[in-house]
Amino acid sequence: MTSIEWRPSGANAQRTLVVGRSGTGKTTRARGLAALAPRAVWLDPKGLNEAGWPHIVQADLFADIGTAGGRAAALRDLLDQHGRIVVQLADRPDLGKTPKASDAAQVDAVAHAAYTLGNVLVAIDDLQGVMESAPTYYVMRVLTMGRSRGVGSLGMVTSVYRLPLDFVRQTNHILAFAQHMAEDVDRLRAIHPDLAQASDLEPYEYAWADLDTGTVRVFGPLAAN
Ligand SMILES: Nc1ncnc2c1ncn2[C@@H]1O[C@H](COP(=O)(O)OP(=O)(O)O)[C@@H](O)[C@H]1O
Ligand SMILES: [Mg+2]
Repeated sequence: MTSIEWRPSGANAQRTLVVGRSGTGKTTRARGLAALAPRAVWLDPKGLNEAGWPHIVQADLFADIGTAGGRAAALRDLLDQHGRIVVQLADRPDLGKTPKASDAAQVDAVAHAAYTLGNVLVAIDDLQGVMESAPTYYVMRVLTMGRSRGVGSLGMVTSVYRLPLDFVRQTNHILAFAQHMAEDVDRLRAIHPDLAQASDLEPYEYAWADLDTGTVRVFGPLAAN
């Protein structure tokens, strides 16, 4: 059986989407994957630290630095010290007229740091919230051009249907957990016919599609890690 190769960061860094309805095990699985990256930034818009990593920083730390080089240096120092960090959003009305605008500025600054620094995995929980409300400039840079800088991405979404199809098609890996909306299953089927089986999965089971090789494998629940 063809094995699936997953490259979180570095040469030929890949894009990964973890999709499925709430509570099916996306974040748990993504956490296990992200732990394989030597350097990782976990964007945590909900502020719950579901990654469970010990080092948490506020995103406004990057927003308050004006230059790409300064942002990258700040991130490099943190990653040198901690390897993998969780980044949460601070309440900073001064960074935007609305909470959304402030959040977007903060997310953008973090993505800017990662994109400039290179060789890092950027994990984004609730990618759909980030894409829908504010597909910020540097998030798009990370997602579409990160590969050339060794920047991989790992996005968690509850509805793949809400993401732009072009973007989903350019993804290297899709881990599809149980779905409930017909639109999402249809979208998955359009990307790879074998992903349609995501409609029949039990919680914690998932179909992993390696879209580069066209391989789809179904995995049972793994020990939560
Ligand atoms: N493979 C698993 N085996 C047992 N429990 C799991 C497994 N994966 C996730 N869980 C538990 O199920 C709940 C939801 O998982 P989570 O990863 O947060 O789902 P999602 O991100 O899709 O909402 C959590 O309490 C988690 O600990
Ligand atoms: Mg989750």
